[in-house]
Amino acid sequence: MDELSKERVVITAALPYAYDDLHLGHIASTHLPPDILYRYLKLKGAEVIQVCASDDFGTPILIAAEKQGKDPREYVATWNARFKEDLGRLGIVYDLFDSTSSKENVELVQSFFTKLNENGYIFVSEVDQFYCENDRKFLPDRYVKGTCPHCGTEEQYSDGCENCGRTLQHGEILSPHCSICGRPPVMRKSTHYFFRLSAFSKQLEEWLRSNQGLQSDAKNYVLNWIKDGLQDWDITRDISWGVPIPLREAEGKVLYGWFDNHLCYITTALKAAGKTGEEGKKYWNESKVYHFIGKDIVYHHYLFLPSMRIGEGEYKLPDLIPTRGHLLLLGKKLSRSKKWMITVREFLEHFPPDYLRFYLTRIVPYTQADANFDLKEFGEKINNELVANIGNFAYRALVFVKNKHGGVVPQAGKPGKEEEDVLEELSRAVAETGALIEEGHYDRALRRVLDFSAKCNQYFQHKAPWENLQEEPTTTNYACNLVAGLATLLNPFLPFSSAELWRQLGFEGAVEDRGWDSASGLRVESGRKIGEPKPVFRKLEEKDLSSVSVQLG
Ligand code: 2FM
Ligand code: ZN
Repeated sequence: MDELSKERVVITAALPYAYDDLHLGHIASTHLPPDILYRYLKLKGAEVIQVCASDDFGTPILIAAEKQGKDPREYVATWNARFKEDLGRLGIVYDLFDSTSSKENVELVQSFFTKLNENGYIFVSEVDQFYCENDRKFLPDRYVKGTCPHCGTEEQYSDGCENCGRTLQHGEILSPHCSICGRPPVMRKSTHYFFRLSAFSKQLEEWLRSNQGLQSDAKNYVLNWIKDGLQDWDITRDISWGVPIPLREAEGKVLYGWFDNHLCYITTALKAAGKTGEEGKKYWNESKVYHFIGKDIVYHHYLFLPSMRIGEGEYKLPDLIPTRGHLLLLGKKLSRSKKWMITVREFLEHFPPDYLRFYLTRIVPYTQADANFDLKEFGEKINNELVANIGNFAYRALVFVKNKHGGVVPQAGKPGKEEEDVLEELSRAVAETGALIEEGHYDRALRRVLDFSAKCNQYFQHKAPWENLQEEPTTTNYACNLVAGLATLLNPFLPFSSAELWRQLGFEGAVEDRGWDSASGLRVESGRKIGEPKPVFRKLEEKDLSSVSVQLG
C-alpha cells in the first residue's frame, strides 16, 4: 500500500444534468467518495486533480429551458453556478467544475467524432423519426406526448411512462401529438449517424478481464452484456442544442449527450492542469485515472466510454471506475415526481455539512449495494458516534487545558505504558485508515477512525486526570496530541470539523499544511496556547429530525 500517493492522479465525478438540483443520492455515490480520496491524497502530498462539470446538452434540458423562455446556454449556466454553490457548501471543491458545452469540450468531441469516422467506426443509416409538419421539425421522443399503451395514462412522453415506469419503444406511444403545437406528427426518414459499438466487443472484454482495478460485480454483468451482443449506437439528435456533427451534410444535427459528456472528463482535467495538445495527451496517459459513478450509468462508463477511447486511440482508459449503488430514502427509491427526495439545499437548511458527510460515508459501501438513508439512524449515528465518541473526547481534553492550565498545553512527564500504547494506536490508525482509503473503502476507513477515537476515550478515562493529579499534565498533553491526530484522520471525511479542532488546538494555518503521515507523531508542543474549547458537534434532538420528515410529507 501507500503507492497511490506516488502517482499522478486524475479524479472525476459523474456530471450532473443541468436541469435539476443536486440531491443526497448524487452526493452519496458520486461526489462525496471522490472528495474523500482527493483530500486524503492532498494530505499525502500527491499530485492530484479533481474535476467535474455540468452535463449541459440534450433534449430534456432544451425543453426545460424553453419552458422558462430561456436560451439554453443561459439556462445551463444558472445550474452550473448552483451546483458549484451546493457542492462548495458541502466542502466538495473541484479544481475545475466546468461545462460540457464549453468551447474546449465541443472541440474535443468533434475531433473524437472525426477520428472515429476516419477509423471506420461511424456509419450512416436512415431511421424513422417523428416529424411535425406544422413546426417543420423532427421531434425527438421527448417532444412527442401521448397515451401509454400499457396503463392508458395520457400525456406521457413517448419514450417512457411516468405512471407505470415502463420504457416505451420508438413509435409505441398511442395517439401521439407534438408537444409544441399539439398536432399529430408523421413519421419521416432522417439520416442518423451510428457508432459501431459492436466492433469493440473483443477489446472491451480483454480490458474488463485484465483491469484489476475494476470492481468484480460490475465487471461480471458487463461481460454478460457483451456475451449477449452489443447494439450499435445511434449518436444523432435532430435538435439544435448539442455538439454539432462536424460534417457538411449533417447540418442541423447534433451528437447525443452521451457521446459528448464523458469526453468532458478529459477536457476538464486537461484544462485544470493547463495542458493542451500532445502535452495534454501525455498528461492524461501518464496519470492514474478514476471515474466515480453511480450504478445507473454503468453501461455508459463500461462500454461507450472505453470503446470511444479505444476507437479514437489517443487517450487511455480509466484505471478505476468506482461504482456505488443507489441511495434509498427510508427504504424507497428517490423520486422527484413523487417528491420523495431531499436536495442538498434542503438538507443544509437543517444540518451542518459534516453531518451529511459523516452519515453518508458510514452507510455507503464500496459496492453496488444500495444504501438506505434513515433519519432515525442518522440521528443515532450523529449522537452516538460523532457527539459521544469524537466530540466528547476532544472537548474534555481541551477543557482540561483551559481549566487546569490557563489554556496552555502542559509539559508531559516521562511517558508510561499507556502513553506508549495509545501513541502506537495512533500510528496504526494513521496507516490503516490510509490503506483503507487507498482501497476505496471509505466506510471502513471512517469506522477505523471511530475505533481509534474510542481508544482515546478509554485512555483518558483510564488515566482519570481529574483524580490522578500527578500524571495529569502528561495525560492532558497526550490527549491534546490525540486530538491533533484525530483532526488529521478526520480531515478527508469531515473537513469543517477537522478545521475547527485544529483552530481550537491553537494552530495557525490549515490541518492540510501538516500532511497525513506526520499525524502519527506528537505535534502539540507544551507551552502552546490553545483556542477556546467548544463542543464541535451538537446533539440532534427529535425536533431537528422531525422537521425534515415533515418536509417529506
Ligand atoms: O446520468 C447522469 O446524470 C449523467 N448526466 C452523467 C454523465 S457522466 C459523464 F459520463 F459525463
Ligand atoms: Zn408541432
